[in-house]
Amino acid sequence: MGIKNRVALVTGSASGIGKQTALRLAENGAKIVINDIVPEKVEQTVAEFKKAGHEAIGHVADITKKASVEGMIKAAVDAFGSIDILVNNAGMEKAGALRKLTEADWDITLNVNLKGAFLCCQAAHNYMVEKNHGRIVNIASRAWLGGAGQAPYSSAKSGMVGLTRTVALELGRKNVTSNCIAPGLIETPLWYELPEKNRNFLLSKQPTGRLGNVDDIANAVMFLADDDAGFITGQVLYICGGRSLFSG
Ligand SMILES: NC(=O)c1ccc[n+]([C@@H]2O[C@H](COP(=O)([O-])OP(=O)(O)OC[C@H]3O[C@@H](n4cnc5c(N)ncnc54)[C@H](O)[C@@H]3O)[C@@H](O)[C@H]2O)c1
Repeated sequence: MGIKNRVALVTGSASGIGKQTALRLAENGAKIVINDIVPEKVEQTVAEFKKAGHEAIGHVADITKKASVEGMIKAAVDAFGSIDILVNNAGMEKAGALRKLTEADWDITLNVNLKGAFLCCQAAHNYMVEKNHGRIVNIASRAWLGGAGQAPYSSAKSGMVGLTRTVALELGRKNVTSNCIAPGLIETPLWYELPEKNRNFLLSKQPTGRLGNVDDIANAVMFLADDDAGFITGQVLYICGGRSLFSG
């Protein structure tokens, strides 16, 4: 049945995985709300989408602020009539050894990755329940399994898995699904900021011997956002080239 004319909001979608995901949803006929915290990037992304013939609006909001999130969901509904697909993608990481991390590192990482997703789910809740339709896709990370130097990030992404499962249980009878994608190493500009030695080490641990790309994630979101995916809920889908098969 697809997603034609469904309304999709992708947080943090002026860059990377979120942008490609929003594009894939738009290419399949969804009306798109581009969100990010950086106004110029939102403006530019919306202009690109419109130029390509897609229906899109932009909404600058910090997803860690409840009032901003509520305003964003309302703006989506005011513009397009509903909110059908919510992709909680915005994220960031403060990494470091446990003993060196600061309280501020912990707070910002938990706030953006976890609290932001919670606030968005909460704000979309009534609209989805009223319409008896919703598809929530949370972008966690394979690192939710644990990662040395990743205490705040891994904890936040673990929390997203718990949030995903809980929302699935609470809203299952309202035809609102809630699933999680756990990407592994994805080729983004951030990857090339790592020293070559680190990149080679990480690549050597990939069972498939390669990085993922933004399309690998966008395609999976499309699959879970589809009207036909209504019997899939509460799941974690790893897109990590097999890296979740072993620890260390
Ligand atoms: N790139 C990877 O290898 C990888 C691997 C696993 C998981 N992920 C997850 O995928 C998601 C996207 O990652 P990416 O690599 O595309 O990152 P990215 O930095 O390219 O994009 C993230 C976007 O989120 C926005 N953002 C940050 N804080 C925000 C806030 N408070 N409110 C609104 N927007 C905010 C940023 O401005 C940015 O545009 C993240 O949740 C990340 O944790 C990425």
